[in-house]
Order: sequence, then C-alpha cells, then structure tokens
Amino acid sequence: MSKQDYSSPPPWIAIEDEVPQEWRNNVLSKLPREKGWGEPYLYQYQGFWYQAFLFHNVLRCQKHFQAQNTDLIVASTPKSGTTWLKSLAFALLYRKSYPPNDNQHPLLSKNSHDLVPFLELDIDFDNPRPDHLSFYSSPRLFSSHLPYQSMPKSVKESSCKLIYICRNPKDAFISLWHYTNKLRAPEMGTLPIEEAFDKFCRGVSLIGPFWDHVLGYWQESLKMPDKILFLKYEEIKERSNTHVKRIAEFYGCPFLDEEEASGVVDEIVKLCSFNNLSNLEVNKSGKDWSGMAFNVLFRRGETQDWKRYLTPDMVDKLDRITEEKFHGSGLML
Ligand code: A3P
Repeated sequence: MSKQDYSSPPPWIAIEDEVPQEWRNNVLSKLPREKGWGEPYLYQYQGFWYQAFLFHNVLRCQKHFQAQNTDLIVASTPKSGTTWLKSLAFALLYRKSYPPNDNQHPLLSKNSHDLVPFLELDIDFDNPRPDHLSFYSSPRLFSSHLPYQSMPKSVKESSCKLIYICRNPKDAFISLWHYTNKLRAPEMGTLPIEEAFDKFCRGVSLIGPFWDHVLGYWQESLKMPDKILFLKYEEIKERSNTHVKRIAEFYGCPFLDEEEASGVVDEIVKLCSFNNLSNLEVNKSGKDWSGMAFNVLFRRGETQDWKRYLTPDMVDKLDRITEEKFHGSGLML
C-alpha cells in the first residue's frame, strides 16, 4: 500500500514510508510478510512480527546497544501496561532526585515514553535525543518490546536487570484492537474484530505471537530470577504497593523504613495511577516524537474488559490456545 492511499497518513504510516528503499529491497523483501492491522505489512523476524520501520531499528539496536550492569529495562508485550510500568519504574528508581509528591515531578509534564526510551524505537544510536540523554547517567532506565530471544547480546551477557509485564491475553487483544483502530487512517475505517482476532490467534500481531513472547520471558525468569522479574498487570492492579516494593527490592534500591512510614510508596502508586496520569494535560493533548497522541495509551485501564467484546466462541478459542501454549510451563494468565 503506498503513501498516496491515505489523504492524511497517521504517524506510524508516515514513519513506515521512511524506511530506505535499498534496505527494503535487500533485507525486508526476503522476510515472510502478512497484511498488517493498519500498517501495510508485518514482517517476521526471529519468529516475531514487526512493522518495517520497527524491524529496521531492531537490527540497529541488536548491533549497537551496549547494556551496562546497572541498567534496568522495562520489557513487555504491547498493550500489557508498558506505559504504567515505565511510570512506576521511573518514579521509584529516581525517587531521591524527584520525590513523588513534588509538584514539579517529570511525570506530571512528560509521558513516561518520553522519559524511558524504547531501545528499539526511540534511540537513534548515532544521535540520541537530548531529553533522553539526561537519563543516560547511571542508573539508566530503558524499555523494550523485544522478545527475550531477540534482545541484544549485551543485555543477556551483562548483569543488567529486566522487569517484564504481561497481561491476560483476552485483555491484551482487546486493548491492541482498540489501539490499532485509533491509529488507523480514517479512510481505512475500523478493523473488524473478527479479522483482528484471527490474526492475533495466528500470532500475527505486533511483536506476536503473544504467547511466545510471554513464555520466553517466563522461562528465563525461572532460570534467572535475579535477572528477570516477571509481573502481571492484574497482580499490580490488585496490590500496587506490594509490587512497587518488589520492584525496588529486585533492582537493589529497597524502600527504607522511614520512606515507607512517610508514605513514599503510596505516593508513587498515586502518582502513576490511571486516574492521575490519564487526566494530566500532557497525556490528554500531548504527542510523542512521531506525532502519536499520548491519549491513545490510556483507554480504560481495567481488567476483564474483554467481557464486553468477545463472543463465547472467541473466548473458548483464546482460552484453548492459551492452555495449549502454556501447558506444562506453570504459567497461568
Ligand atoms: P486498556 O486498553 O485495556 O485500557 P501499554 O502501555 O502497554 O500500551 O498498555 C496500554 C494499556 O494499559 C491500556 O489498557 C491502558 O488503558 C492501560 N494503562 C495505561 N496507563 C495505566 C495505568 N496508569 N494504570 C493501569 N492501566 C494503565
């Protein structure tokens, strides 16, 4: 699909067109591809599906990113609560420099995606953005949607740590479907839920298959519990304070008794709550570097919203796939 098919291409389509033609011919054209959810195509690389521009960056990230032992990486499958976990991680890691009750806290004026860069999306390895550079001093905080299998070698070989968030697949699917529809060009209309569902079940979704992504991190977290902390959206939602403390302990910056007594953990949870973040001006009307409105990242922020959309047959099918994929792994979502 070419650029002129859209009267006003949404940001991600515009970026898609920036991928160099020579690279398209030499590299991209050799990969399996399928029609995307809104983007022209998704391409399969190392078992997972990427947009062209994203894949272009993945290769550069795999080649150039040098992890440091003190790095913390927020990893996730898309629509699992990345924006939330980035906010929590930022608030707790930098709580000395930015007390969470400070009315000048960076999260009040910037979206967490502007504070915690995606390794494979936000960093131009030749010219890092100046507002990211301020956080490049140790401890550095990054994020990534890359499957563990595809993480740069230095991430696997260094002692850097990862916190991974995943979510019930039915909620992840519904969230992704809504998100896609908000970003599709108006001329394309809404992607029918049946079509999206079929793609999701076949694993053809942004950095899908969803189940392989989750399982990759789950299995590594069992082998290396000191390196990967495996978290579930639903559990953070239910007991946010406990999980904020778990993350701080895991990284090696546990809350002091005085901090807990003075309510720092509560303040972090409150600062990063859906209600608070989604009502900030930056998240209501701000945009990221690509032009994507931040408000598309905040929809309902609830669990089991799938009940409003999925038919009993769809529920059966997704549950069956999840059971089969996770069978014997000890993982339940
Ligand atoms: P819903 O579409 O179900 O509402 P990601 O950040 O990985 O793109 O995930 C987006 C999902 O997380 C959306 O789910 C969004 O509403 C939800 N979300 C965003 N901020 C949140 C927060 N502070 N607390 C809980 N959920 C949040």
